[in-house]
Amino acid sequence: MPEKIPDRIAWAVAALEIGGADRVLEIGGGPGVAASLVCSRLDTGRMLLIDRSATAIERTRRRNAEHLSSGRLQLETVELREFEARGRQFDKVFAVNVNVFWTGPATEELARVREALAPGGRLFLFYETPSAARARDVATRVADALRANGFAAPGLRRHLGAGPAVASVHVLDPLEPGTVLERVPEPP
Ligand SMILES: C[S@@+](CC[C@H](N)C(=O)[O-])C[C@H]1O[C@@H](n2cnc3c(N)ncnc32)[C@H](O)[C@@H]1O
Repeated sequence: MPEKIPDRIAWAVAALEIGGADRVLEIGGGPGVAASLVCSRLDTGRMLLIDRSATAIERTRRRNAEHLSSGRLQLETVELREFEARGRQFDKVFAVNVNVFWTGPATEELARVREALAPGGRLFLFYETPSAARARDVATRVADALRANGFAAPGLRRHLGAGPAVASVHVLDPLEPGTVLERVPEPP
């Protein structure tokens, strides 16, 4: 039976609108479910997945053997705050359910993201939460951290399906301050 892709992953990958030439960075991407979907949409593009857990990286490796051997996917075991872009630039940087962006100021982590973003690149943060109230709380905290660290006014998008509420925060290139990608008003 084909594997069921979790709703949050399917939604996140759809929201990324991956183009064949995109250079993509996923933070905390183990065990590599989103990576499989992203890589299958890439042509000349490339993806780097980082995760601080060696176990999560190993699970990603097992799941994505084909994309690793084609060179489309690369993996790195590293904490985001210690990640070195070393000249690599990404059009889309994303994370799903990585809490560091709302549990504290995330200043070092967001500095590393900023270094990795190509001009015009975008950061997408997705969270699955057990309730709509929690989604709102998480999205507000993430948006505050982003603003405090010099990112452009984040666009917030909430997805209220039959399952758990999902909040995502989409942020434009920090080089274009003040530009809002998308803002969906709160329901009354
Ligand atoms: C809750 S899991 C989510 C995994 C996957 N994104 C998903 O939605 O199924 C969080 C993942 O992010 C990784 N992670 C959390 N904080 C991180 C950080 N600061 N730097 C790198 N990886 C991190 C964890 O090791 C873990 O694999």
